[in-house]
Amino acid sequence: MRRLVRETKLSVDDFIYPLFIEEGKDIETEISSMPGIKRFSLDKLSPELDEVTTLGIPAVLLFGIPKNKDSKGQETWDDEGIIQKTIRFIKKDYPNLMVISDVCFCEYTDHGHCGIISGGGIISGEDVDNDKTLTNISKQALSHARAGVDMVAPSGMMDGTIASVRAALDGEGFSDLPVMAYSVKYASAFYGPFRDAADSAPSFGDRNTYQMDPANRREGMHKAKFDSDEGADILMVKPALSYLDIISDLKAEFDQPIACYNVSGEYAMIKAAEKQGWIDGPRVMMESLLSMKRAGADIIITYFAKDAARLLHNKTSQ
Ligand code: PBG
Repeated sequence: MRRLVRETKLSVDDFIYPLFIEEGKDIETEISSMPGIKRFSLDKLSPELDEVTTLGIPAVLLFGIPKNKDSKGQETWDDEGIIQKTIRFIKKDYPNLMVISDVCFCEYTDHGHCGIISGGGIISGEDVDNDKTLTNISKQALSHARAGVDMVAPSGMMDGTIASVRAALDGEGFSDLPVMAYSVKYASAFYGPFRDAADSAPSFGDRNTYQMDPANRREGMHKAKFDSDEGADILMVKPALSYLDIISDLKAEFDQPIACYNVSGEYAMIKAAEKQGWIDGPRVMMESLLSMKRAGADIIITYFAKDAARLLHNKTSQ
């Protein structure tokens, strides 16, 4: 009876699995605050991709950790950059795995911010220059497109990103390439473990001048509307668990698929409490993923993708 009347069902088809790829050789480093999640060099990546594809996870989201950082994050648009090489490698060896690239600068800039810094900022005197950054975002997205990526996901929260990326892609013949917008991204403390993982913590100030205030709900709709009008194919809310109301708002308002990002801190909390023996980790994992789906998410980006897929497969074979 419960199976017949169940309103929400999780499936492995819902998941996108994030991957951290580091420039270098022979690297397979576990991220201490994210048990089970590793930074890989390209030569060590195949077993992980074998697992992801065997479990039937449809897509991966790539984050790169370069050797060299600079003030602009120039490696992001280098056709021989770490992400570009990874995209080519995966599309060659795993053609059926969808490859999505995160398009941002914070892992590539020496100051750790998501764009170009210029003077005149209101808070610290220096700030990210929205409009100058847009040109570089487009260069980066185009370079990923040339490498063969299946979808780009700009995550820097610069106004006008989607319009400029769309125009750049269309201008070079990539008019079929979809864009997933990090539309509603909050300035969240839940990103802590990711910044260790991706080595992307800002060296001064914070991201409050471009990421959203967690107190604001209507502003989320406002941001998503911009991205929708500018041609975003998928709208994303990030983080997920503390922002289920925002997921639900977007689902009610827009016809595009809605994605949410179950971020590093949400993963770390469950893993840590499970390790202490304080909660039933797998059940709490499934309950929280289910709540995201129930709130309206069509797609869940999650570090739990492999764990959850394994559980879902066991259930259906019973
Ligand atoms: C920014 C970016 C961030 C995450 C993904 N892309 C965080 C930030 O603003 O520092 C966080 C993801 C997570 O916490 O899992 N390019």
